[in-house]
Amino acid sequence: MAQEQPLIYLDHAATSWPKPQAVVDAVMQTLQQGAANPGRGSHRMAVQSGRVLFEARKNLAKLLRIANPNDIALTANTTVGLNLAIKGMLKPGDHVIATAVEHNSVRRPLEYLKSSIGITVTYVETDRFGELDVARIREEIRPETALVAAAHSSNLLGSILPIADIGEITRRNGIPLLVDAAQSAGILDIDVEEMGIDLLAFPGHKALLGPQGTGGVYIHPRLDPVPLLHGGTGSQSESAEQPTVRPDRYEAGTPNTPGMAGLAAGVRHVLELTPKAVHARETELIARIRDGLASVAGITLLGPQEGRPRTGICAFTMAGVEASELSFILDQHYGIAVRAGYHCTPLAHWSAGTAETGAVRASVGASTTDQEAEALVLAIREIRTHYPI
Ligand code: ALA
Repeated sequence: MAQEQPLIYLDHAATSWPKPQAVVDAVMQTLQQGAANPGRGSHRMAVQSGRVLFEARKNLAKLLRIANPNDIALTANTTVGLNLAIKGMLKPGDHVIATAVEHNSVRRPLEYLKSSIGITVTYVETDRFGELDVARIREEIRPETALVAAAHSSNLLGSILPIADIGEITRRNGIPLLVDAAQSAGILDIDVEEMGIDLLAFPGHKALLGPQGTGGVYIHPRLDPVPLLHGGTGSQSESAEQPTVRPDRYEAGTPNTPGMAGLAAGVRHVLELTPKAVHARETELIARIRDGLASVAGITLLGPQEGRPRTGICAFTMAGVEASELSFILDQHYGIAVRAGYHCTPLAHWSAGTAETGAVRASVGASTTDQEAEALVLAIREIRTHYPI
């Protein structure tokens, strides 16, 4: 059956959908009742917009256990937060340790700085399941190591990196730790102090259930990265310099106030659900999908082995059917939305041994039903009968 729109949405690792009604209502209400420029006027609508941003920051601080909400800069997505952290922290001659499961949003800014200002980067290997031996980080530290950057969870493999253990090493060595929480914020418990995280970039549109165009980055108060953007903040307007006060220092330009209203509502929803319950549910759904796919001939499942912790991602290859073709068939004939290809993470594909083939990635959210998970398994079984090996 051909579908106009995907009915079975298994692409939550890219963008979560559907959003809670409270998120939709918050965006609509802000657009309808007033989304003036926050911090740029003293009239009541501008003040109300400022409150919207504060609510988003406050909820995020509660979820991520950040002591001061003003240490969170609201951004358009994780990529902006990562660029701010990476480009703002590094100078010529610096050395960075990253991992072999990083997304291009970490790798590309690092590679750019490598060629433009002369930093060096070591990508620490993981095993083929995307699991990292933390000792490898310790071994790579040099006197000029200025940053360690690590994904909390691989967006291809769903493996979870031992951030608290990495944080212990970086704190002991006085090296800032940047964490890419694109696949973990809202799913895994995060406590920036306890885990030794100095910079944390996160998306609003994935497990935090907000709209696209929202996200943020936490910056430890003892760090002062160079702002990514310079411009109007509505504060210290007489000065030619970017203000030093947070969050203004890192938030030049008019923000996405309606989007942030949605993000505030999304985070409130996650706080009610609790990341622990979300993670438990996603683990259950992925186990169901993996168990079902394991018995299909020619399927190779990627990511951590059974029993190992993971996020709600199941990537796989199917012998005899290209990843892009398989995802096209799933969409067109079964109304199932998945993501195929390289998922902006060629490094993780090298680790997994799928650099030549790419893979299909199904990813779930807390709202995914058992029936939806089962539908994918049934579809793959049926497709196998059409492509015998
Ligand atoms: N980074 C997002 C993903 O993994 C878009 O699909």
